[in-house]
Amino acid sequence: MRWPHSVCVFWFLWLVFLFQSGNSGLPSEIISLQGEWLFWNSNKTVNGTGNIPGDIYSDLYASGIIDNPLYGENHLNLKWISEEEWTYQRKILLHREDLTPGYFLDITSLDTIATIYWNGEKVMHTRNQFVPYNVNVTDLVISGYNEIMITFKSAVKYSKKRAEEYSSVFGHKLPPDCNPDIYHGECHQNFIRKAQYSYAWDWGPSFPTVGIVDDIYLNVYRGHLFHDFTWKTIYVKGCILGKWHVEFEFETFHYGSRTVDYVVEIPELGIREMDYYRMSSLISMQSRSKNRLKFSIPPAKEPERWWPNGMGEPKLYDVIVSCGSQVKQRKIGFKTVELVQDFINPEKPEQGRNFYFKVNDVPIFLKGTNWIPVSMFRNKTENFEKTKFLLDSAVEVGMNVLRVWGGGYYENNDFFMYAAKKGILIWQDLMFACALYPTTDEFIKNAEKEVYAQVDRIAQFPSLLVFSGNNENEAAIRGHWWKTANYSENQQVKDYVLLYKRLGKITKSLTPTIPFILSSPSNGIQTEIEGGVSKNPYDVKYGDIHYYNEFVNLWRDDTYLIPRCASEYGVQSYPLKETMLNWIDKSDWEYTSKAMFHRQHHPGGIATNLLMIFQHLPIPSQCDGIALSDISSCEYVTSSSYMSRLAYFSQIHQAVALKTQTLHYRRFRNITTDEGLGNTMCAMYWQLNDVWAAPTWSSIDFDQNWKMAHYEAKRFFANTAVFSFADEADFNLKVFILNDNMYDLNNVTVNVQQLSWGNGLDPILTNEFNVDVVSAASSQIVETGMKFSKLNDLADFLYVTTLYNSTGAKIHEDVLVPDFLFEVDFNTFGDVRIGEVKKINDLTYEIAVTTDKVSPFTWISCKKPFVGWFTDNGFHMIQTLQKVRLVTKEAVDLQKTDFSVCNLKNCYV
Ligand SMILES: *[C@@H]1O[C@H](CO)[C@@H](O)[C@H](O)[C@H]1NC(C)=O
Ligand SMILES: *[C@@H]1O[C@H](CO)[C@@H](O)[C@H](O)[C@H]1NC(C)=O
Ligand SMILES: *[C@@H]1O[C@H](CO)[C@@H](O)[C@H](O)[C@H]1NC(C)=O
Ligand SMILES: *[C@@H]1O[C@H](CO)[C@@H](O)[C@H](O)[C@H]1NC(C)=O
Ligand SMILES: *[C@@H]1O[C@H](CO)[C@@H](O)[C@H](O)[C@H]1NC(C)=O
Ligand SMILES: *[C@@H]1O[C@H](CO)[C@@H](O)[C@H](O)[C@H]1NC(C)=O
Ligand SMILES: *[C@@H]1O[C@H](CO)[C@@H](O)[C@H](O)[C@H]1NC(C)=O
Ligand SMILES: *[C@@H]1O[C@H](CO)[C@@H](O)[C@H](O)[C@H]1NC(C)=O
Repeated sequence: MRWPHSVCVFWFLWLVFLFQSGNSGLPSEIISLQGEWLFWNSNKTVNGTGNIPGDIYSDLYASGIIDNPLYGENHLNLKWISEEEWTYQRKILLHREDLTPGYFLDITSLDTIATIYWNGEKVMHTRNQFVPYNVNVTDLVISGYNEIMITFKSAVKYSKKRAEEYSSVFGHKLPPDCNPDIYHGECHQNFIRKAQYSYAWDWGPSFPTVGIVDDIYLNVYRGHLFHDFTWKTIYVKGCILGKWHVEFEFETFHYGSRTVDYVVEIPELGIREMDYYRMSSLISMQSRSKNRLKFSIPPAKEPERWWPNGMGEPKLYDVIVSCGSQVKQRKIGFKTVELVQDFINPEKPEQGRNFYFKVNDVPIFLKGTNWIPVSMFRNKTENFEKTKFLLDSAVEVGMNVLRVWGGGYYENNDFFMYAAKKGILIWQDLMFACALYPTTDEFIKNAEKEVYAQVDRIAQFPSLLVFSGNNENEAAIRGHWWKTANYSENQQVKDYVLLYKRLGKITKSLTPTIPFILSSPSNGIQTEIEGGVSKNPYDVKYGDIHYYNEFVNLWRDDTYLIPRCASEYGVQSYPLKETMLNWIDKSDWEYTSKAMFHRQHHPGGIATNLLMIFQHLPIPSQCDGIALSDISSCEYVTSSSYMSRLAYFSQIHQAVALKTQTLHYRRFRNITTDEGLGNTMCAMYWQLNDVWAAPTWSSIDFDQNWKMAHYEAKRFFANTAVFSFADEADFNLKVFILNDNMYDLNNVTVNVQQLSWGNGLDPILTNEFNVDVVSAASSQIVETGMKFSKLNDLADFLYVTTLYNSTGAKIHEDVLVPDFLFEVDFNTFGDVRIGEVKKINDLTYEIAVTTDKVSPFTWISCKKPFVGWFTDNGFHMIQTLQKVRLVTKEAVDLQKTDFSVCNLKNCYV
């Protein structure tokens, strides 16, 4: 018998229909549960409407119940919020069908100790902010209004209780036990898997948030629902040609047994791969399946590599994955990464090992900084806007890496995708910082779940450079940061090794192509050889170091160590008046007002900042006769009349200190000393951003204003750079040329000028050199002909070093200002003025600045607030005219009178 053709088609279509839609005829759907939820405290005396994703502080503020938590002293007065239990609730109308589909709550993050109820029935209890949850509520869904309720226990009370239980079982406390008093924070953050900084840090307040802090959906699947996918790319070297292997993993929810097909397309490469999967489960049962599709890209279709900023294009390819009519599209990149740790000198193993990364087989000098969360709170839209601004600001100054520090959270896909687009590599800590952690089965299992969920998600982005087990926990043990009774160093080491070896093993198994180190700082492979905790985790001969010292001269090159990799270093500065007065009352704008004092969380910071600043900059005449060591006793220094200038001074100090230290590390690129020190390959200062307006180590303040240090970074991170420093060892001016490019620079010209403050803009001595500069290295001009007899002489001069390429174009210029600036007569500085201001387009203005004499630390300000940056600021003028541009993200209408300019002579006097 032969069916008529049309009947065949009919049957075929009917089958397809069933196949696609499951039994009820409706397609699978994803229902957003974002937006408004009601919330209340346990006795319902406080209630309001929250906005999900969000957090309790944002919701209380938006509901008019509390003032802006970041304003004034509010951070000290809102403790009651973290002691309450909070409930969030919303209702959704659902129509329950005859043939039950699968209903799953798809929750990206709950902060943290939460119980989920569906129509009053308890469905899940959660205790890890970093684990996404899929909650099966199929049996509980009714036709009509369904109520979802999530209650959050006080995180602070929970962690305290867990700490007490721990102590009673193990007979010792688990440090740090409590944060230093000066943090005005909470205790025992190490007992809860929650962003550790939310209990306060030395740069941030304590807001132990609770809430539905990320996306939340109800997935309704009929038949099947294509939920998500991840990918991995692995390059396998061949004899001549290598090959990219690509592996996709799809996650599907389905009902009963069925066959689905997945198609992966990379149109730009002409790639289309597909496969069928039979997913089985008992009829009438729902299931969740993971299926893999692996294929290789033939050499003929070899993709372009993804390159970090400064080395090439961060090439990304669109990838389209379809599962029937369910289509998802993302971007994918191809790069390899390798961590090189060979011996510096195989004949002298005691000289230690290299520690640097190769990206696409090319050694890369890591230039960047450390990333903390962009906010204390969880407003997804606002936080992503800030994230984009910060990543743009990193790229603008030539950074190629950010370290996502271990006391925050695992950033979301938007962050990693944006970093990938911008060519920013990511050094990713696991979220453990400055503490020891429990090693009970329960805690380790909980932490393992988080690593499974997060590492797999994060590793797929081309930005990923390295995973690190924690921040400074190894260093804390060996540095004896805490005196803890009944907890020997040996036992601390054992517990430490148990936890991070377990997490490391999982991380490595999930991402065999991304390097893993146990901690930062660590000695890399040497730490592993020493069993997981080395004798001195700060050893300059191995791995990475963190360096902080406020009792040395931070403007001198010879202050600094010669490590393989500096992944943290920095110094505080104050936000300028324009930022601070948005967050405190004008009457509180003085160095030791209560409000300012409570924002200084750095132990000893009040004293050390003054000591450091006045080592270089003049003590005001009002304090004549008072010794530097006693400077805080001078009332004028801590008065409101002086605060704005002091903040400007602090930014100068930070800018010069970061410049000196960064260039010190860069000058040891591809250079080793006789003792085998050097080959330094990272300069990543602490820290990029802020969570509030306060004295911190950031180079961009909370209101997204670049501090002077961030402008300076544009100079000290330049791929091709020249700089000089006064070497006291032989009383010679040393000049270095840094070339991070993948090409040599032949016959470049280096011009060195000595200027005297009293002599206007004309140099008193000029020397010029033609040199060849190799790629991927630092080169020194040994004899500059610029000598001085003792360090104090240097105060009379400044040195200008300029690099021209072989066709005479100016490539880079550096100005070395004296270490003892207080010895300089400020009356010799020029009078700076705003010249012509030209509107180039809606987002760009060109501003001319003029001077008659040398103008150090020239600072341009704009009266109207803007989101953006000047193309240069904080510079030293050694010509009469300099033009800079203001580039903004949104149009601002500006006139000449909106701009002002000053310099070291008259800024904020
Ligand atoms: C409700 O709870 C708050 C905070 O726990 C408490 O201060 C208040 O007295 C309670 N009110 C009642 C009526 O129980
Ligand atoms: C919200 O709080 C107010 C003020 O305490 C109270 O009168 C009201 O009953 C509460 N409403 C709900 C729905 O709990
Ligand atoms: C240390 O151990 C001793 C003896 O078991 C105990 O009495 C003491 O309370 C412990 N100290 C702490 C801080 O737990
Ligand atoms: C979800 O719950 C339903 C009803 O209890 C059950 O039939 C189904 O197998 C569950 N699905 C999964 C993936 O566990
Ligand atoms: C989140 O940020 C957006 C954009 O800044 C703002 O419009 C909104 O009001 C914020 N929501 C909350 C709950 O603070
Ligand atoms: C290098 O450049 C200078 C001009 O800047 C030129 O006089 C000289 O001949 C060049 N040297 C070589 C080797 O090309
Ligand atoms: C050191 O410089 C040489 C010569 O330019 C270069 O080939 C090599 O890759 C550099 N090594 C590193 C680690 O950058
Ligand atoms: C010198 O720099 C200018 C400006 O960046 C560029 O146009 C020129 O090609 C460079 N010349 C060489 C030889 O690199």
